[in-house]
Amino acid sequence: MDGTSDWLGKRREESMGTATIAPRSRSRELSLAVGEPLLRGIHHLALVTDDMRMTLDFYVRVLGMPIVHGLRTPSRPPGARHAHGNGAPPYSNIPHYFLDMGGDSLLAFFEYPKRIAKADRDAIGAMQHVSFACGPARYREILERLKANGITIDAGPLLVIPPAIHSFYFFDPNGIRLEISSDLDGDEEDLLVIRSCSMSETELRAELETISNDKAWIDDMVAAMTPQGLGPVILSAS
Ligand SMILES: [Fe+2]
Repeated sequence: MDGTSDWLGKRREESMGTATIAPRSRSRELSLAVGEPLLRGIHHLALVTDDMRMTLDFYVRVLGMPIVHGLRTPSRPPGARHAHGNGAPPYSNIPHYFLDMGGDSLLAFFEYPKRIAKADRDAIGAMQHVSFACGPARYREILERLKANGITIDAGPLLVIPPAIHSFYFFDPNGIRLEISSDLDGDEEDLLVIRSCSMSETELRAELETISNDKAWIDDMVAAMTPQGLGPVILSAS
């Protein structure tokens, strides 16, 4: 293990708390063995509100997400450990709802008691925002739905990834930063999100070189790039 990867291993160990990521020398085999993601995507993204009715009104009525499941989390004797350990909310017997966000994925909310401080969305480790995907026609429809419901569009619509990924940003009633993203040159149903956001190896390498001068690490990252990339950049002679 060279000095750089030892430092990276230690730094990752610190920043991940109890989780430890193997330094590059050990992770290389794994990363190169995987050409496709191991996971399919989001099962559920769990967020926090202190007003479930307001939240359901927004996500069901404005963003059109049907309710899939609703429950109250279990009650337990004071001081008893939750079956989910530290992954559980620090409150028992609270509403917990699951919404269909599309793509066979769920958006979930817990309703915490009132008077809990709002999150700092720009703190390290925070969820900065969530971006939902849709086709070009639905993109325009949702933009109009939001405006018709008095929701402020804070940024956009704008081009975020050339040539055609556009998005706009807004906040839900809890102050959760949201985005709707769409490939405006793409199909309405077959969104091809990965393909439409991919880049060439050359472009990725140039970006990685702005965050590290460790060529071996950059080679690893490029080797583990999505197979749905756009291939080498072809420079036009004209
Ligand atoms: Fe985004």
